[in-house]
Amino acid sequence: MAKLTKINHIAVVVPDIDEALKFWRDALGIAVDHVEDVPSQKSTVAFLPVADTEVELVKPTAPDTGAAKFLAERGGGMHHLCFEVDDVAGMLADLKAKGIRLINEEPIELPGRKMAFIHPKSTGGVLIELYEIIK
Ligand code: CO
Repeated sequence: MAKLTKINHIAVVVPDIDEALKFWRDALGIAVDHVEDVPSQKSTVAFLPVADTEVELVKPTAPDTGAAKFLAERGGGMHHLCFEVDDVAGMLADLKAKGIRLINEEPIELPGRKMAFIHPKSTGGVLIELYEIIK
């Protein structure tokens, strides 16, 4: 059976990266690794590593994404939790067999990783992302 191996990141949707860094970097003291435009996700993301995981501050750059709708409806906040898993396709099959509602029935393949989302309706309200790092 597929297994979770760590928390890869916790994503927080923000309306403004510089404004958000006043808390996450300046007050809390997390060093920013880098800030990157991620066109495939229609967002700008600041990566703030903490030990072997990281906080990702996600600023939507187009209105037609889940994160942009989340920002419009709730003003931002904790958006999803991402686990690394050793076999994302196997995990999706296990979850589906258990009646868990999935957003992605098959992994999305990106350079360096495969990913999928589990629907918050099946998780008690938490959007969960699964990553399989391809080495
Ligand atoms: Co994520």
